[in-house]
Amino acid sequence: SRSEPLKVMISGAPASGKGTQCELIVQKFGLVHVSTGDLLRAEVSAGTEIGNKAKEYMNSGRLVPDEIVTAMVKARLSRDDAKQNGWLLDGYPRTSAQAQSLEEMKIRPDVYILLNVPDEILIDRCVGRRLDPETGKIYHITHFPPESEEIKKRLITRPDDTEEKVKSRLQIYKQNVQAILSTYLDILNEIDGNRPKDAVFKEIENLLLRLEEKKEAGKSGV
Ligand code: AP5
Repeated sequence: SRSEPLKVMISGAPASGKGTQCELIVQKFGLVHVSTGDLLRAEVSAGTEIGNKAKEYMNSGRLVPDEIVTAMVKARLSRDDAKQNGWLLDGYPRTSAQAQSLEEMKIRPDVYILLNVPDEILIDRCVGRRLDPETGKIYHITHFPPESEEIKKRLITRPDDTEEKVKSRLQIYKQNVQAILSTYLDILNEIDGNRPKDAVFKEIENLLLRLEEKKEAGKSGV
């Protein structure tokens, strides 16, 4: 029988590589990726009530109100696939109120991964980022160009990826990060995200493999 599935939080500044690492983590560990940014962007493009409320905040690089995002995360984490396969929470909690909501619901991860990348690198990563609307895959015009002309033609740029908006997103991130970290200090794992993506992933992979072993041992132990 399987042990309790992994529960992972991944955080870091805008463009620190959360989405990129999550693609690799999902491939290897089969966790359910819950990205509040992706969930919100899907609501916006579907034109739902949540999407219409969230749109202005997102396009201007501000945070969407806590109650909207918290309800969304709560609903997603309580679905069967997340309970059975474990989850990878990306982009939440983003404020101390959001962290408190999770604590109150007794939702705690096994590990809190923080990707560290210097500010000047983040701007270039955002401005050069492109998304494939069909596969959801993340590209970069110079670091990770698309595999074919066909993909290249359909790539889109996020409306919040201008230099000015990235700077304001980064500032908002910095205002909130300490308060969130204090909730997860005992399970904090800082990772240098300013390396090739495979090197970053190798470190995350080792960390998660060790955690899986620990959970397995804890289960079969007395
Ligand atoms: P969200 O989508 O979460 O945006 P973010 O946190 O700003 O993070 P990003 O998606 O910009 O970056 P990432 O770290 O995933 O980097 P990526 O892998 O793409 O949120 C968007 C908005 O939604 C928020 O502003 C807010 O309005 C709202 N929102 C979301 N959650 C919320 C919440 N909890 N509360 C309230 N509002 C919320 O990589 C970036 C680029 O760098 C790519 O081009 C990639 O190819 C490249 N790259 C990645 N890794 C490397 C590497 N190792 N070397 C070189 N290039 C790399």
